[in-house]
Amino acid sequence: MTKRKGIILAGGTGSRLHPVTLGVSKQLLPIYDKPMIYYPISVLMLGGIRDIAIITTPEDATQFKRMLGDGTQWGLSFTWLEQPSPDGLAQAYLLAEDFLDGAPSAMVLGDNIFFGHGLPELLHAADAQGTGGTVFGYQVADPERYGVLDLAPDGSARGIIEKPQVAPSPYAVTGLYYLDGTASERARAVTPSARGELEITSLLEMYLEDGLLSVQRMGRGFAWLDTGTHESLLDAGNFVRTLEMRQGLQTGCPEEIAYAQGWIDQGMLLESAERFSKNGYGAYLRGLV
Ligand code: TTP
Repeated sequence: MTKRKGIILAGGTGSRLHPVTLGVSKQLLPIYDKPMIYYPISVLMLGGIRDIAIITTPEDATQFKRMLGDGTQWGLSFTWLEQPSPDGLAQAYLLAEDFLDGAPSAMVLGDNIFFGHGLPELLHAADAQGTGGTVFGYQVADPERYGVLDLAPDGSARGIIEKPQVAPSPYAVTGLYYLDGTASERARAVTPSARGELEITSLLEMYLEDGLLSVQRMGRGFAWLDTGTHESLLDAGNFVRTLEMRQGLQTGCPEEIAYAQGWIDQGMLLESAERFSKNGYGAYLRGLV
């Protein structure tokens, strides 16, 4: 099987965070001690993915590149793509068509934060699936705000309903999608919705209709955090701070994951530590050696 490639969708307007995001991309904002995009990058890394396309707006591309470079510092390879206007999540598969070149993919939204024991195992199980796609369901108190899974008694997906008035289950579809190599081809058949976007739900429905969509549930031991509003952004930052202060361990630290995976050696880790020699992040990286 061709090696799975990663996509991070980090465009959008971030209008719910205005005026904060009038001059800067949402995904560059801090979640406690790191830029937001570090967290979705870390998720792909935990899933063993090193070849990653990052999609940004044309206006924000320079800042992202200045921050992240070409990925080699973390043993990764970044391909930079631009989305001229926020025309929907499914458009990512059109923009990334040449990059994917028929390979299976894992796409994560640049503003989604995942945390939980067993996350790598969950990702590896999704990666092992040859044909079809996997979405991850997470129980939320307010499913009406999300794409919601309609589940059959055996736990398989019967449908996905966007922002239902009466939710068929409490399971929202999270912003992490494992799709096979047909995703770009299928995305070409997606037509704009009433709100003018190429909806990811429409693309997922194509997999569903072919009986090719699996659901993995992220249980109550996981955190899937939203960062799209002022309140949720602060809550996510406080969540990360609480964890890190209590454990003395970083969450969403790409250098640490790269080192643990054997993608960078001790010298490269220490080089990174040197860049942050004046703060606790640098001290943490030094401590990993
Ligand atoms: P949203 O939160 O739906 O949109 P947004 O980030 O523009 O914010 P707001 O609703 O406040 O205006 O987007 C979810 C994620 O997907 C976020 O990381 C931005 C990204 N995104 C794109 O990159 N391109 C798109 O066309 C859309 C719709 C979202």
